[in-house]
Order: sequence, then structure tokens, then C-alpha cells
Amino acid sequence: MKIIESKNYLKMSHTACQILAEQIGQNPKIKLGLATGSTPIGLYNRLIHLNKKKEISFQKVTTFNLDEYVGLPATHPNSYHYFMRENFFQHIDINEANTHIPNGMAYDLEKECIRYQQVIETAGGMDIQVLGLGENGHIGFNEPGTSFSEETHIISLEKSTREANARFFDNIDQVPKKAITVGINTIMQSKQVILLISGETKAEAYNRLVNGGITETFPASILQKHKNCIVLVDQETTFQIT
Ligand code: F6R
Repeated sequence: MKIIESKNYLKMSHTACQILAEQIGQNPKIKLGLATGSTPIGLYNRLIHLNKKKEISFQKVTTFNLDEYVGLPATHPNSYHYFMRENFFQHIDINEANTHIPNGMAYDLEKECIRYQQVIETAGGMDIQVLGLGENGHIGFNEPGTSFSEETHIISLEKSTREANARFFDNIDQVPKKAITVGINTIMQSKQVILLISGETKAEAYNRLVNGGITETFPASILQKHKNCIVLVDQETTFQIT
């Protein structure tokens, strides 16, 4: 893992954007794995800015989102379909047909996981996977204890994850208990991984990522084995680490 520390969230987001913009320039048909949550919003804002200035184009880019809650329709403001549309896709020149997000409303969720995995594999996997970090070490919605060999699957969300995400809902009871997530094996097959970490709530997880061993009880630890993983972290996270 290569670690790049930035002074603050904005700088971290700009660094992430620079890396992505360069790669999109080199490969306009790039396949991007994308995350939701608070952390990548600065990156998305910056990419939108460059797209509006016509410095980059998403016309030929394909995206695969990591995850979606089970039971929330795409029109629900807390669904990841809605999040991606609001925060990114509707502001850029991407072809909607090239954007992919698991369908958490599928009648047969197991079949949906197989379908989504096949779409990723048919495309040849991700060139770059953007990740955020859960306080408990999850990446995507791969919670502690998830096998490193998993592909797209259904996951029961941990109480701590539902608590962390309750900030987007009226109360914790409204946070879905299950989600569909791309698995760790698929994440690890991405040619490059960019892990974004910001804020002091992530300090403990960051410390464990950098200084702990590789274990399924801390899913992000597997990234230590990835050949091209860049960790972008801001000083709000690192200032307490000795
Ligand atoms: C979201 C996702 C999650 C988040 C993680 C951190 O698509 O895959 O792993 O990246 O929960 O969320 P934030 O950025 O809100 O702290």
C-alpha cells in the first residue's frame, strides 16, 4: 500500500481526482468501481468540476457501484441509486446505460448477485476501485468475518454500521438490515485500488489498517496484499496516530 497523507479533506479529494482524471485521460473506456457514503463526495464534486470544464469526459466510462441496500427503491433518497444520481451521475456526461448498481429490490436477491457479478466479469473487472473505509474495517459492505474469497453477495449489516449510517435516516430502525455488496475477491482483482480515509472517526480503523495483521475480522486489511493500492488519508485521521 502506498500512503499519501493530505492536509485536509479538500486536498485529499483533489489528489484522488488528479489520479482518476489522469487515468481517464489515458483510457477513456476505463471501468471504475465506485463507493457511496460521505468520503467520496469531495472527489465526485471535483470530477464534476473537471467534466464541466471539459477537461475530462465520462462518455465512454463504465461504472460499477459497490453496494446497495436491500429493500430501498431507486427513488428512495437513501438508496445508493439515488445517491449516485444526485451526487455524481446527473452532473456529468456519462451514458446512464454504462452505470451499474446492484438492484436491492430484486425479487430473487441471490440471482441478482449472480447477475451483477457476471456483468462485472463480462466487462473484464474494474480498472480502478474507489473505496471508503468503515469504522469497523468494512470495505463495500463486506463486514468483519466476511470471507476474503467472496464475490457479489448478500450481507447482514452490523449494528455499528447501521448506527453509523443512521445519520442519513430519521432513525436507526429505518436503516435496512441487509445489503448487496461486491465481494472482497472482486475488489482485490481491480487493477488499482484507491482507498479514501477522512476524519477522526476513522483514526482507529486507519491505525489497524496500517499496523495490524491481515485478518477477515478486519476486511480492509487484505488491501495490504494488493499490488497497486493507494491510501489517501487526511490529517484529521492521522493526527492522533503515533
Ligand atoms: C459505500 C461503502 C462503504 C463506505 C463506508 C464509509 O458504498 O461501500 O464501505 O465507503 O461505510 O462510509 P463514509 O464514507 O460515509 O464514512
